[in-house]
Amino acid sequence: MAEFSFIDEELCGLERSDMLRRLRCIESIRGPAVRLTGDAGEKILFCSNNYLNIAGDAKVAEAVIDAVRRYGYGAGASRLICGTMQGHAEVEQRFAEFFSAESALLFNSGWTANQAVLTTIPQEGDLVLLDKLDHASVIDAAMAGKATFRTYRRNDPAKLEKLLADSRFERKFIVTESVFSMDGDRADLTRLVELKKKHSAILIVDEAHAAGCLGDSGAGLADELGLLDDVDIVVAPLGKAFGATGAIVAAAKNVTDYLINKARGFIYTTAPSPVNCAALLAALEIVISEPQRRQSLAANCEYLRTRLNALGLDTASSTSHIIPVIIGDSGKTLAVSSHLYKRGYFAAAIRPPTVAAGTARLRISVQAEHTKVHLDGLANALSEAMRISAHRQP
Ligand SMILES: Cc1ncc(COP(=O)(O)O)c(C=O)c1O
Repeated sequence: MAEFSFIDEELCGLERSDMLRRLRCIESIRGPAVRLTGDAGEKILFCSNNYLNIAGDAKVAEAVIDAVRRYGYGAGASRLICGTMQGHAEVEQRFAEFFSAESALLFNSGWTANQAVLTTIPQEGDLVLLDKLDHASVIDAAMAGKATFRTYRRNDPAKLEKLLADSRFERKFIVTESVFSMDGDRADLTRLVELKKKHSAILIVDEAHAAGCLGDSGAGLADELGLLDDVDIVVAPLGKAFGATGAIVAAAKNVTDYLINKARGFIYTTAPSPVNCAALLAALEIVISEPQRRQSLAANCEYLRTRLNALGLDTASSTSHIIPVIIGDSGKTLAVSSHLYKRGYFAAAIRPPTVAAGTARLRISVQAEHTKVHLDGLANALSEAMRISAHRQP
């Protein structure tokens, strides 16, 4: 439409600078193998957050079919009107136990949960301290909130300590991801707990990429480090290892009561489907009763990272199932991704502004069900693609 010609100009600019994004449609998923619309061949997926292959699990499908027969699909109203059903209550109770918290509250997404927590709990006169590489949902939420916010670099604890020592603020909050979504490294939670205790701060941890995958019981990095009792608020988006949608906020009962009363992203939205609650309960059961999925994921990561490093590829500081391969230039990254695609591997290019300028990358995410054949195949195809792209002009 002519009225939107200003948008066309901007889209052309994005295309010229290799920054245009397009949707790709997946038609079927069988384990790590997928089929995309318009393409006859199967691709091995290396960019999904379905780390434990729970999204396509038969037990989840059975639970969903049973729930849809019993409840239909939609909740029909917001939680506070008449949208709260048995499934929501059960999910909240089971996830509170899982995260060793007094209480838990279910949100429609991780984005909404971070918005709700950071625009509701920190007040005017408070200070919110964010890791520079926290997820966009955390940064945007802090920007939308009433508290002052500052960022710190996670390899610069002295800066964080200095910010915490500022006595002008009523309360201080430290907000971090546990496993960082683009670099795949881990926050130094032990140090953050020390600092929060020393400065009487409140620690909020987004376990999006660790919940389900790390820890003896699968509750995330805080669980792995024995720090569950020291984290004040856990935000756990459930669209990743748990293979469904939604997010849990696990905290003290007065915190979740406050969110129920004050958080606009909880109050003014239709409740999550009871069918999604059934999927979440089935997924939680798998996470608790099948630790072998976590073990297989960890072994696959170790194997692939070692192979990629042996090829001289830059996997940054990754220590998890998210393994970035830093390429730098966006055009080269697109070329590498498209070469992999032709060879049967789907690993999307991640470009600015999702990551910093000059650090475009493939964000390889590993799954429990990847086989050695998948991992070796990817490593070989990547090595070939990098050789070819080295001759490409930026
Ligand atoms: C660290 C982190 N937090 C929050 C979110 C948002 O979660 P959701 O996809 O459920 O909105 C994501 C990713 O989407 C994420 O990577």
